[in-house]
Amino acid sequence: MTPNPLRHLAIIMDGNGRWAEERGLRRTKGHEAGVETVRRVTEYCAEDPEIETLTLYAFSTENWKRPKMEVDYLMHLLEKYVRLERERYMSRGIRFEVIGDLSPFSSRLRETLEETREATRHNRALTQILALNYGARDEIVRSVRRLLAAGEEPSEASISRHLDTPYADVDLLIRTGGEERLSNFLLWQLSYTELFFSESYWPDFSVDELRRIIEKFQSRRRKFGGI
Ligand code: IPE
Ligand code: IPE
Ligand code: MG
Repeated sequence: MTPNPLRHLAIIMDGNGRWAEERGLRRTKGHEAGVETVRRVTEYCAEDPEIETLTLYAFSTENWKRPKMEVDYLMHLLEKYVRLERERYMSRGIRFEVIGDLSPFSSRLRETLEETREATRHNRALTQILALNYGARDEIVRSVRRLLAAGEEPSEASISRHLDTPYADVDLLIRTGGEERLSNFLLWQLSYTELFFSESYWPDFSVDELRRIIEKFQSRRRKFGGI
């Protein structure tokens, strides 16, 4: 059997808070440590010639429920990461994209996101997509609104076209942190995705573990409803 191709990998990066709490640290330290894993995993994917797209769930539409201090810290970290990462994106050929509803973010954060998107848009080794204030239900509603405004009929093709993600379907989804749920991530795009759940907290997630998961994914039998 030929191994399954892996063009689009999506990850629910979970477990930062527990990683920190278990070390007697503040939850924010876990988010900070998680940034290193983002770098490792992104570089691995950029070097893999087969992987075209890496979508990372960084902040959900439900994460506003967290204490203001944690939300503020996450916004600060995000701004810093996207700004500082620009050079690395350029040297590794990584194109930076975002999905989600950016309207509640500060204009400073939105500008940083836009500048990094613009600066990296010709890079081709990998597209790294951050899902920010992202919820799959919200995305589907926004897609339907857009297609109605364009005077189109709802269909699978038109809904897909108006989603935030005009990318290939997700082949493989990994959730770290031990929980086995989707938490409103990419519900439409995950229809036939292979799912893997890792017990590792996101800051502990290693490239070796990623490689092992990819090997298992490659040998799974994908049927798409056929036999
Ligand atoms: C995931 O880690 C990162 C975000 C949701 C921003 P968590 O912060 O959810 O970590 P746990 O699940 O509480 O350990
Ligand atoms: C999902 O993790 C969202 C992100 C990783 C950004 P959560 O920690 O918010 O999910 P629940 O609350 O455990 O479902
Ligand atoms: Mg969590």
